[in-house]
Amino acid sequence: MSGGNVEQNVRAFYDAIGWKLESDGHYQNARYEDLRPVSAEYIHRCHLRITPYFADGGKYLLDAGCGPIQYAEYLTYSENFEKRVCADISITALKEARKRIGEHGLFVVADVANLPFAPEVFDGIVSLHTLHHLPLDLQKKAWFELVRTLNPGKTAAVVNGWTESAMMKRWQPWVERAEKVGHWIARLRGKERSEKQPRVQASAAVQTQKSKAVENGQATGTFVRKMDAAWLRTELADLSGQIRIEIRCWRSVSVRWLRALIHPPYGKLALRRLFSLEEEDPEVYGEMGQYPLIILRKQ
Ligand SMILES: C[S@@+](CC[C@H](N)C(=O)[O-])C[C@H]1O[C@@H](n2cnc3c(N)ncnc32)[C@H](O)[C@@H]1O
Repeated sequence: MSGGNVEQNVRAFYDAIGWKLESDGHYQNARYEDLRPVSAEYIHRCHLRITPYFADGGKYLLDAGCGPIQYAEYLTYSENFEKRVCADISITALKEARKRIGEHGLFVVADVANLPFAPEVFDGIVSLHTLHHLPLDLQKKAWFELVRTLNPGKTAAVVNGWTESAMMKRWQPWVERAEKVGHWIARLRGKERSEKQPRVQASAAVQTQKSKAVENGQATGTFVRKMDAAWLRTELADLSGQIRIEIRCWRSVSVRWLRALIHPPYGKLALRRLFSLEEEDPEVYGEMGQYPLIILRKQ
């Protein structure tokens, strides 16, 4: 599938489904996050890991693939900037983002792989969970676009899940066991059917995207090829004269891991411990865990 088709499918998905508000007050897209109270503190602290990188502020912060700026912590990234430039291919995302930040924002329908901005205009760039939507060749272009538009001496912070996390791979058997036990318990309580319903519908939406991509011959595209730290360093090697790259930890565990293994009464404590471990060794958890925080400092 060509880059244009992928983009159209992604846009159609977010316009029609992903950024639709549901009756519980969350976007449909939030179903892919763990919103349970037991995980809330950990997730909140992970979101805030980005804020200190933008403490110095400046004129424009670019939010590339901003979505609706769906979590309150996201607002802190631009609090020291004059304007947050929200760029997204989904018009629904931009309309929702405008409801959140109003006059503080500038809203631009734009593709991260072809940013319609002059070089070196941004005093900071943030991009969360967006680049993985692009076919791999366009991902490289998007990284270059971020660097092109970043002011020298400034920082870009990008969060993008690895397609294969060594840490999550090691945990896989435990996650599967815990899921089985969870299903047995749910069945015993007679709850399974009613709880499963929304997840099945949500995954159908993503599955539609994935199967369309595969059906259309995108076997080496967004969803299939391996994206890990080694791949990223190779892709960005040409930029080594311009930027310094740090791979740190944003969140080392996946939503599936959280849902399977973290439960009251000890889940919150376990996540506090995990957060401390990530803080002690951010590079290791960044490379081995699920979600790296990739910091680009432009020289
Ligand atoms: C998973 S959402 C993440 C949104 C937000 N950054 C967050 O973390 O909540 C991905 C967003 O990227 C946008 N997107 C996908 N491909 C894009 C592209 N090529 N250019 C710009 N935005 C894109 C989607 O429309 C969607 O709003």
